[in-house]
Amino acid sequence: MKIEINNNNLFKEKAYISGQWVDANDGSTIEVTNPANQEIIGHVPNCGLEETNAAIDAAAEAQKKWRQCPAKEKSSILRSFYDLICVHQEDLARIITYEQGKSMTEATGEITYSASFIEWFAEEAKRIYGDVIPGHLHDRRTIVIKQPIGVVACITPWNFPSAMLARKIGPALATGCSLVCKPAKQTPFSALALAYLAEQAGLPKGLLNVLTGNAQTIGKAMTDSNLVRKLTFTGSTETGKMLLKECAKTVKKVSMELGGLAPFIVFEDANIEAAIAGAIAAKYRNTGQTCVCANRIYVHQDIYDEFCEGFTKAAAKIQTGEGLDPTTDQGPLIDEAALAKVEEHINDAQNQGGLILLGGRRHKLGGLFFEPTVIKDANDAMLIAHEETFGPVAPLFSFATEEEVIARANDTPFGLASYFYTTDLAKSWRVSEQLEYGMVGLNTGIVSTEMAPFGGIKESGMGREGSKYGVEDYLEIKYISIAGIDR
Ligand code: SIN
Repeated sequence: MKIEINNNNLFKEKAYISGQWVDANDGSTIEVTNPANQEIIGHVPNCGLEETNAAIDAAAEAQKKWRQCPAKEKSSILRSFYDLICVHQEDLARIITYEQGKSMTEATGEITYSASFIEWFAEEAKRIYGDVIPGHLHDRRTIVIKQPIGVVACITPWNFPSAMLARKIGPALATGCSLVCKPAKQTPFSALALAYLAEQAGLPKGLLNVLTGNAQTIGKAMTDSNLVRKLTFTGSTETGKMLLKECAKTVKKVSMELGGLAPFIVFEDANIEAAIAGAIAAKYRNTGQTCVCANRIYVHQDIYDEFCEGFTKAAAKIQTGEGLDPTTDQGPLIDEAALAKVEEHINDAQNQGGLILLGGRRHKLGGLFFEPTVIKDANDAMLIAHEETFGPVAPLFSFATEEEVIARANDTPFGLASYFYTTDLAKSWRVSEQLEYGMVGLNTGIVSTEMAPFGGIKESGMGREGSKYGVEDYLEIKYISIAGIDR
């Protein structure tokens, strides 16, 4: 084992099926490396069809009892799970940094974020209410009840290996569902550590299963299964579309949190200092590797030069390095393909008249590190105006009117997060209402919290995670029509 943590039980090199820590049936494994130095940090089982079917069967069996479990009991197990995540925050954050690369500050923040979903849904478990509807005939009454959808398949990404899973585990368990999870191949250890803590919290066997291994094989077994009644996915729009197609065969309920192309608009009346701070947070969080990162920064022409100068100065202060180094703000990118995409966007922007104000190259640390980059004079013909970069590159566009910038911001198939800065109240409402996005950050560069409905429209997906709306995606509505009530 190449990682240093206090409680080694949190580091599991096994899959978790039906409450057992197991190897792949054929004993094969896959390597997991640290993106900061490419060292192998461990191995996990290379599970396939048989293991996936075993996990689905276990989840279906366990769910029969769990769905009957009183809300208060479900809530109390989730609460214990939350407490354990908090107790082990530092180790869990270190696991993220080892396998994903982000700085310890960001990883610690991610564990707080993960825990918040478990805490939130521990509370929501007790508030899953139905309705009583007035009868439509003299002798009738109508009751609406909400029931767990059943076995949920979860496929989660490498950029937030803990939080993206926690925000699916929380509502699934709170509503009485069970789960079969497939974390990204680059970052399985955070998911396995969460499963270990759920086990320690007293979660009955079979309710939470974590499979590691080949995404295509496991994903296909999940989508082919009639027992799996819902699939929840966070990842690229391309994979999301493929999964939607596969889920159609058995008409599963789906939640999809897919790609974004977030616009970040700074109006001429904005507080420029605050807008710069917000844009830095929205752009460089997790080395630019979030679906809600600002991909296109539009600044009004009257303040464009001033903003470019201030933003570049602020970006130049970002320290790039190994996540475990306490002075690091920004870690490496996840892999060589991610670096290649960043370089493609920068080269294309330069070829189309973009001016590099900062960075633009691989970092002198080598490996997967890249310099925080700022590009002035970005235009709509550039690749970066149409494709998610998923890297630390900030293209700065200028605009003249509100109408123009809204049209440009909306001119995309994506609709996840958007941001704008203004001090004008009327404009705040107008622009919020006109942006075709699931989330709008007004005078803030961070919209993520367990208390709000996270999710997108258009090709950014469907369904919401977090908040009171987050439970709905895991429930079926049933109405009971009661007749013969007349005397
Ligand atoms: C994501 O990148 O998919 C999620 C980011 C967040 O929850 O803030």
